[in-house]
Amino acid sequence: MEANNINIHVQNPDGTLTTLEAPIDMGLSLMEYLKACEYDILATCGGMALCATCCVDVLEGEDMLHEMSDDEYAMLDTLPDVLPNSRLSCQLKLNQEMDGLTIKLHGGLN
Ligand code: FES
Repeated sequence: MEANNINIHVQNPDGTLTTLEAPIDMGLSLMEYLKACEYDILATCGGMALCATCCVDVLEGEDMLHEMSDDEYAMLDTLPDVLPNSRLSCQLKLNQEMDGLTIKLHGGLN
């Protein structure tokens, strides 16, 4: 793994994990990176915490993430099936502390 990359594990619908090497030196959010990897994320608001279509469920590493903002919390609260470990991936800027994070796309359809 290169020094400026971290590993992000994405759980597939069949329960297997795909490990992605995500760059932390490009200023990308997790949403932008997942879209670049062709995951099916609409992100209709473009990362403004206004649509919740970028929602992911954090399976491991929640403590590596910064606390959610009021905007993120308010948006997640509109989802009928929100989980305690749900986050908006557009609000998570890739950084070194997120190395090893394990997520799945919210709703289970990757
Ligand atoms: Fe719209 Fe994240 S892209 S809330």
